[in-house]
Amino acid sequence: MSNISLKRLQELKVCLLCSAMELLPKIHVRPMIEDDLDAVMAIEIASYSSPWNHEHFRDELISRYSWPFVAVEMESVVGYVCLMSLFEEAQILNVAVVSTRRGRGIARMLLDHASTQALEKGAEIMALEVRASNTAAISLYEKLGFTRVGIRAGYYESAEDAVLMEKPLKENS
Ligand SMILES: CC(C)(COP(=O)(O)OP(=O)(O)OC[C@H]1O[C@@H](n2cnc3c(N)ncnc32)[C@H](O)[C@@H]1OP(=O)(O)O)[C@@H](O)C(=O)NCCC(=O)NCCS
Repeated sequence: MSNISLKRLQELKVCLLCSAMELLPKIHVRPMIEDDLDAVMAIEIASYSSPWNHEHFRDELISRYSWPFVAVEMESVVGYVCLMSLFEEAQILNVAVVSTRRGRGIARMLLDHASTQALEKGAEIMALEVRASNTAAISLYEKLGFTRVGIRAGYYESAEDAVLMEKPLKENS
């Protein structure tokens, strides 16, 4: 095969990749609203053994220190993150993605958005706690720059430890 036809083949491959990417449904992150709560609750119940209830999410919607966001794909809520930010410390209170859409970078997108928002609100550190058995979430947080800073023994149902993790939002914090 000549060099010219190889180059042409590579160009065609790039064109095909670009067209395929345009066909992929776009996902965007926006603030959560009351109308999202049924979809959010469906994901929450399917994701956790001890899920939050409607009131927990309503509290996030009205609290002056909370900023809940949803990831939306083709007008459907596919994930959410609940951010709390108070002075220099922000916290991720909850994050989940619908099981059929996991492994596509949606949690990363939500957490990156939450970090940007927290930084804008003046936070210097992002903190969270996660079940010691939740290896998927721990890998996610480690990939995004969180490190383990402690353990809260028997925190969940007085039986499972919570791993405390933090990530600096500013370079010198
Ligand atoms: C944890 C959770 C939010 C991850 O959502 P997701 O959209 O699938 O995650 P992403 O696709 O953005 O993954 C980003 C990175 O996290 C890590 N990760 C995510 N899921 C993982 C898994 N099941 N196993 C190992 N690593 C995983 C990977 O490093 C991944 O990077 P890569 O794709 O380059 O390998 C999702 O599994 C979930 O909703 N779980 C139930 C709720 C929950 O446990 N929330 C956390 C409570 S603290």
